[in-house]
Amino acid sequence: MNGKRRTLAVFPGSFDPITNGHLDIIERSLTVFDLVTVAILVNLEKQPLFTVEERVEIIREEYQGNPRVKVDTFTGLLVDYAEKAGATVIVRGLRAISDFEFEFQMALMNRHLNSRIETVFMMPAERYSYLSSRLVKEVFQLGGGVRELVPAGVERRLREKYGRSRAPQTAPRRRAR
Ligand code: PNS
Repeated sequence: MNGKRRTLAVFPGSFDPITNGHLDIIERSLTVFDLVTVAILVNLEKQPLFTVEERVEIIREEYQGNPRVKVDTFTGLLVDYAEKAGATVIVRGLRAISDFEFEFQMALMNRHLNSRIETVFMMPAERYSYLSSRLVKEVFQLGGGVRELVPAGVERRLREKYGRSRAPQTAPRRRAR
């Protein structure tokens, strides 16, 4: 890029699984930053639905052929990972006011730990403002459809995990009266 320094942003999270809301934030990040690394936290205390390997694979599939998006995993402090990766920005999505308090606390703690790294918040499209990985899992486990909420690779793997052969419709079609 003409010898200009490229800005690398890290988009950290659990991504268990990645949703269309996360993809929306990645797309928005690409309009502002040169490179985005999706960094999956390896949290040994949590029992995830998708293994770290599965989560990496899903996101890699989604961004195959896009050299501006990388997928990685990390343990320990996020700011240490970001610094080592050469990132200057941490991107976090803000869906609603309810996200704000925790995100604000995390951003300030990260700044306290490393003031060279700036946290940038991005708002996803309104249609994703109610979406979360936790709800996707719950809805699917209880028999609901999530096809419009997650990438195809996630929906397929959910069906495989729960032995469901065909994706249900999100809402049943209304009968004409
Ligand atoms: O998708 P999530 O679960 O909301 O992501 C949370 C995440 C991974 C961004 C956060 O837990 C994190 O950064 N963990 C790494 C440990 C760390 O750096 N803690 C101090 C920051 S407050």
